[in-house]
Amino acid sequence: MAKQKFQSPKGVKDILPEDQKYLQRIQEVFSHIALRYGFDRLDLPVFEETALYQRGVGETTDIVEKEMYTFLDRSETSMTLRPEFTAGVLRSFVQHGMASLTKPVKLWSTGPIFRYERPQAGRYRQFHQLNAEALGELDPVLDLEIMSIAWDLYDALNFKGLSFQINSIGCPKCRPGYLDTLKAYYKKHFDTICDDCKNRIDRNPLRLLDCKNNGCQQIIQNAPMISEHLCEECNDHFTKVKLYLDTLSRPYAINPRLVRGLDYYTKTVFEVWADGIGSQNAVCGGGRYDGLVELLGGQPTPGVGFAAGIERMIFAMQQQKIEVPELQTPEIYFVSIPDAKVQIIKWIQALRSQKIPALMAMGDRSFKAQFREANRRNVKTVIVIGDEELKTQTATVKNMQTSDQQQIPFSSLMTHLVKKEYY
Ligand code: HAM
Repeated sequence: MAKQKFQSPKGVKDILPEDQKYLQRIQEVFSHIALRYGFDRLDLPVFEETALYQRGVGETTDIVEKEMYTFLDRSETSMTLRPEFTAGVLRSFVQHGMASLTKPVKLWSTGPIFRYERPQAGRYRQFHQLNAEALGELDPVLDLEIMSIAWDLYDALNFKGLSFQINSIGCPKCRPGYLDTLKAYYKKHFDTICDDCKNRIDRNPLRLLDCKNNGCQQIIQNAPMISEHLCEECNDHFTKVKLYLDTLSRPYAINPRLVRGLDYYTKTVFEVWADGIGSQNAVCGGGRYDGLVELLGGQPTPGVGFAAGIERMIFAMQQQKIEVPELQTPEIYFVSIPDAKVQIIKWIQALRSQKIPALMAMGDRSFKAQFREANRRNVKTVIVIGDEELKTQTATVKNMQTSDQQQIPFSSLMTHLVKKEYY
């Protein structure tokens, strides 16, 4: 058969060993913060029935119209690889009767997300999100809490140059009136707007404000703003969110053009933008979705949440030269002659059972090659067992940082190594 080389699919990225320290650091920090805010972890399937996303995310969104990985399973049911967490979290909330739990029910999740987007730096077809949802509470303090999680996350990771963008996009009471005004305004400028916008006027008018086409920017600038059309309830909610943010001295910008790409939002929406990652600069986004649980078959239950893109965060951290701790490297490496292997496999087993990372050279290689490998792996201690050591039953223990050497009898080697503080 002809030799064939495979590449990862377009827009799909391996997270290589050298980038794992970022992934691990981000996940570790997020799971601690989630715990601090009283969130429980929820793991969800990677695929769900397509109808869940059509209904949850919205038929006229880019995600549903153009970006879902949808397939028929063997019983001809249409399934979709999850393009986001929120709809799945709410499906699980309804299915498992979580509405009867003490509210707000707070759930966090993490894992891969799939969107058939045009790949570019910071935009992939498979990426990972950290996601948090809080359900069952209308209080704007919960909006603040969700935003604060994002804040604490980026703060703990030492992000610089972040900008918090917030807006309110109203509710089913006040938004339709605003959308009529917006559509009327756009119809007046029909000849100047791009084809996508012409299409959006009737299908998804709020997204008109989100158009990236140069020719539409002036029209967007002069468009009526939803903040002037909010009903009393939405206005009051937004005023409180801002008051709470001010109370905690959180810097933020009110962005009247921020509308988000998913249909379920009501009232508060927000994004965090980071310096240094170009046009794909949203490291996270979220907001309130007070009608979504009901739309997905549950009792009316308000909710608010957000998701952060892990690859974009890694990219921004690398651009901003943010230091993260190196992953733990093996502590101990055995350099030996093949005859010593029976003894060494027993020691290695004993060390690992004491949670001490230990490795040995494989095959029959020169000491020079084995030391090279030990250096490459950054090990702290090398134990040499050559002919002489076997004869005298005494190991040579070398500190790789200081090059100091000690002779330790086999009989006390384990006690000598285990008493060191490795954790
Ligand atoms: P989203 O804004 O679509 O919101 O995605 C959240 C984050 O995922 C973005 O800010 C970005 O960091 C990352 N992201 C999105 N698309 C890509 C991509 N193609 N490649 C790399 N990263 C990407 C949601 O998904 C909502 N479910 C958030 C939410 C939760 N709202 C309420 N609860």
